[in-house]
Amino acid sequence: MQPWPYPLWIAHRGAGKLAPENTLAAFRLGAAHGYRAFECDVKLSADGVPFLLHDATLERTSSGTGTAALVDWSGLSRLDAGGWHSRGYAGEPLPTLEAIAAYCIRNGYALNIEIKPTPGAEGETGRVVAAAAARLWAGQALPPLLSSFRPDALQAAREAAPALPRALLLDTLRDGWFDELHTLHCVAAVTNHQIMDAALITRLHAAELRALVYTVNETADAERLAALGIDGLITDAVDRFSPGPSGVRA
Ligand code: G3P
Ligand code: MG
Repeated sequence: MQPWPYPLWIAHRGAGKLAPENTLAAFRLGAAHGYRAFECDVKLSADGVPFLLHDATLERTSSGTGTAALVDWSGLSRLDAGGWHSRGYAGEPLPTLEAIAAYCIRNGYALNIEIKPTPGAEGETGRVVAAAAARLWAGQALPPLLSSFRPDALQAAREAAPALPRALLLDTLRDGWFDELHTLHCVAAVTNHQIMDAALITRLHAAELRALVYTVNETADAERLAALGIDGLITDAVDRFSPGPSGVRA
């Protein structure tokens, strides 16, 4: 197998639940806990700016309301994406992908960009996010890993930036999942940790594909998967799992 350049431990949405998800503050907190790789969710503003947000709507994780994709970046940039979490993070802005790219590149951190399209914008989001990522990481030794639950978004990403590595997110092993990985020229599958087992890792590795999982927050799950030879663990528990060279430590 080709060497896998990404760290084993990946902090989910920046720092899991300890800081407001998908903000620069979360990345900084994850980094303070020793993390050198991060996952984040990226979608498009109404005027096509890639930015970090998990939900299609703004209410849960910002001071805004309604569908995020209907708001231009100038409006999104004025929202408070931290006050919902706790008072100390009040005023934390929504970050653009560009801002997070600059932070990761400057610090030598790896990024897993989950393409999280607003429903109906799968192709456009895959295309714009991949093109932006190719431009932002041009000349860098470690490109971002693009992932998505949406094959149509990954297909658009492949057409826009074929050289960037892609991974298919799988909550279940639906009919045709293995063929989708090949059609999309993926380098990895990122599955719900509950469906990852020795047979699945063996099957993926035999096909020269890497096996990653989300979202592993229990020590027993992390130890089981590490013992099986998992290639990546996305976790919220950045305060309990130390991404040191010795592997799983609680
Ligand atoms: O990228 C893996 C994981 O983030 C997928 O689930 O809902 O947290 O984006 P979700
Ligand atoms: Mg995600």
